[in-house]
Parts: sequence; C-alpha cells; structure tokens
Amino acid sequence: MYKTKITLLMATSLNGFINRNDKEQVTAWTSPEDKSMLYSEIKSSDALIMGRKSFFHFYSKLMSGPIYVLTNDKQLLNTESNQIIYTNETPEQIIKNCQSQNIKSALLLGGAKTNTAFLQKKLIDEIKITIEPRLFGNGLPFLTDCEIDEKLELISVKKVNQKGTLFLHYKILKEKFR
Ligand SMILES: NC(=O)c1ccc[n+]([C@@H]2O[C@H](COP(=O)([O-])OP(=O)(O)OC[C@H]3O[C@@H](n4cnc5c(N)ncnc54)[C@H](OP(=O)(O)O)[C@@H]3O)[C@@H](O)[C@H]2O)c1
Repeated sequence: MYKTKITLLMATSLNGFINRNDKEQVTAWTSPEDKSMLYSEIKSSDALIMGRKSFFHFYSKLMSGPIYVLTNDKQLLNTESNQIIYTNETPEQIIKNCQSQNIKSALLLGGAKTNTAFLQKKLIDEIKITIEPRLFGNGLPFLTDCEIDEKLELISVKKVNQKGTLFLHYKILKEKFR
C-alpha cells in the first residue's frame, strides 16, 4: 500500500484571506499565473480532496483520478458517479481510501473548514501557497478558529510576475523533527 502524499494548495491575500466573500470566485482576484499553476497541479495529481463549497465540476475534466468532495448533504451523498465521490467520511478514512487505491499524491483544495479538518488530524505533508499582492480588510480565513500550531520548513519561494505574486512551497515538520 502506498503512503499518499497530501499537499494543501491555496491562494491567499498578503494578509492571509482565502477569499473576500463566499459569493465571488477566487479567480476574481488571483493572477493568471496562479490559475495556470492550479490547473497544472490538478492535471498532475492522482486525486483531489475538497469541501463541497470549494468544488467545481470542471475539475473533473482536467484529470481522471477520483475527486473526494466532503459533504453532509444526503442528496449529494446518494449521487452515483465514477469520478466524483461525495463523502462524509472522516479525513483519516478518506486518506485510507486513497492509500488502498494506491494513490501516490492527492491535492487538498480547501476551503477553510476542510483545511482545518485535515490539519487538525496531521494528515497534510506539504503546503503550496500563492500569495497575491492584495490586502483585504475582511474575508475568509485560511483556517477556521482552532488550536493548530504546526512547524513548517520552506522548500522553495518563487516570484512569478512583475506584480509580485509569490509561490511558496513548505513541508510540514513531523513531530520527531521538532
Ligand atoms: N483561495 C483559495 O485558494 C481557495 C480555495 C478553495 C476555496 N476557497 C474559498 O473558500 C470558501 C469556502 O470555504 P469554506 O470553509 O466555507 O468551505 P469548504 O471547506 O470548501 O466546504 C465546507 C463544506 O464541506 C463539507 N464539509 C467540510 N468538512 C466536512 C466534514 N468533516 N465532514 C463532512 N462534510 C464536511 C460541508 O458541506 P455541506 O454543507 O454540503 O454538508 C461544509 O459545509 C469559498 O469562498 C471559496 O471560494 C478559496
């Protein structure tokens, strides 16, 4: 059985918001470079995991692997699909399902509620953050209110355009290295 590598991928404003509000799409304020990076990361990953509020159907056209969408909605949970798996299983069980299918890498694509559920269970290996050069006075946070305190190590940082959009790549340090 493979150990599935879980990478959390998110875009944020400079002050850490993942969106201004729930009504607009993140692509309203992210750069073209972030969009193309997101699509290429999706294309090269074996599985996607995200909360129901962050799921877009077109993701299924970009890759062939399973897409786990967390929800408690009974109608969605009864939806039959070969690729899109609506689930109310725990984060641990979702990862076990990935491992039993020999999935080597999965992208966790938010949002805050789903990020928090997986981070609280220490199931994330790496984090890729795009910092867009924007400041929002209010918005949705990266994590919901919780006790998380993880130590990270920077793997790479790259400025990808003139405006100063940054791609940051971190690994999460596991307990024994702290
Ligand atoms: N900046 C970025 O890169 C980025 C990326 C992704 C999303 N976002 C933004 O984030 C916002 C959405 O974030 P969010 O935190 O509100 O929502 P979310 O995490 O995307 O989805 C929350 C929903 O997922 C389901 N869910 C989450 N955890 C669950 C669990 N443990 N068990 C069962 N179901 C679970 C529930 O669905 P039901 O209500 O159906 O039960 C819940 O309402 C949007 O504005 C979106 O645009 C930003």
